[in-house]
Amino acid sequence: METFSLYDFPEIYDQVRTPDQYTFESIYKHICDQLGRAPRSVMDPACGPATWLSLFADKGVLVAGNDISEEMIANAQEKCAGKAIELIVGDMCDLQFKKGPFEVSFELAGTCGIIPDKKTFQRFLRSVVNHTSSQGIILLTVFFHEMDMYTEYPWLVGEWGPFGVYPQGKAWLKYEVLSTEPELNLERVRRTVNTEGVAQCSCPLIDEYNMYSWSEESFWQMISEIPELSFVSSFRYDEPEGIVFATKGELTGEVTVVLRRL
Ligand SMILES: C[S@@+](CC[C@H](N)C(=O)[O-])C[C@H]1O[C@@H](n2cnc3c(N)ncnc32)[C@H](O)[C@@H]1O
Repeated sequence: METFSLYDFPEIYDQVRTPDQYTFESIYKHICDQLGRAPRSVMDPACGPATWLSLFADKGVLVAGNDISEEMIANAQEKCAGKAIELIVGDMCDLQFKKGPFEVSFELAGTCGIIPDKKTFQRFLRSVVNHTSSQGIILLTVFFHEMDMYTEYPWLVGEWGPFGVYPQGKAWLKYEVLSTEPELNLERVRRTVNTEGVAQCSCPLIDEYNMYSWSEESFWQMISEIPELSFVSSFRYDEPEGIVFATKGELTGEVTVVLRRL
C-alpha cells in the first residue's frame, strides 16, 4: 500500500501543529521581554508551512523562512504574503538568506531533534547564528534524555484532535516511541495522522523517524564552543498552559532553550 507523509500535506500539517493562541502569546511576550520591545523580524530555519511564522506575521512582524521542501515554502508564501522578507528552499545547516540578519531566529517544533550528531548540530547553529542580529534571540526546542521512563513499546506520547481541516474535514495526531537506543541517544518515533472527510487523503499519514536527544552536560558543552552564544532561559511549552520555565541543570524531555547572539 502506498503511504504518505504528513509533509506531503502542508495544509494538514498546519492544522495539527499550529500552537494555540495563548501559548504563542506567552512565547511572544518572552521574546519581547528579552529584546526590550516587539521584534521587527523573525526567521525559522525549517519553517514548514509558516506554522509559527504566520502568527508573527499576523502581529505585523516581518518574517523569513527556509525549508527543504518546495511545497512547504509555496504554502508559506501564500500565508505570509505582504509580510515575508524572504522564503527560500534549502538546508537548515547551510542557510542562504540574501537578506537579514534577523532579530529573532527560532525552531519551536522539534526539528532540531532530527539532527544526528554534534558536528551537524554545530553546523546548523553556526548557520542560524550567521543570520541572527547581534543581541538578537535564538529559540530552539531540543530534547534532553528521558529514555528511562519508557516501560513498554510502542510508548504512547500523546494523542490530539480533532483539528478542523478546511473545508469540512477533521484530523487527529498521535506520537509514539517505537524503540530507543540509549547508546546512540536515539528514539525511533512514529507520528500518525488520521483524517476524516479530507479530500485526497483517505489513508493515515504515517512518518517514522529518528529523534536524537542530549545529555544536558554535552548540550551546554556544545553551546559553549560557539562563543557568540550566551544562555538566556529555558522553558517547556505545554498547550494550552503556555510556557513553564525550567531550571538549567534539571532539564529533561522536550525543552525550548533561549540563547542570545552576542
Ligand atoms: C516538524 S516540521 C517544523 C515546521 C515549522 N518549523 C513549525 O514550527 O511547525 C519540520 C520541517 O522541517 C523541514 N526539514 C526537514 N529537514 C530539513 C533540512 N535539513 N533543512 C530544512 N528544512 C528541513 C521539513 O520539510 C518540515 O517542513
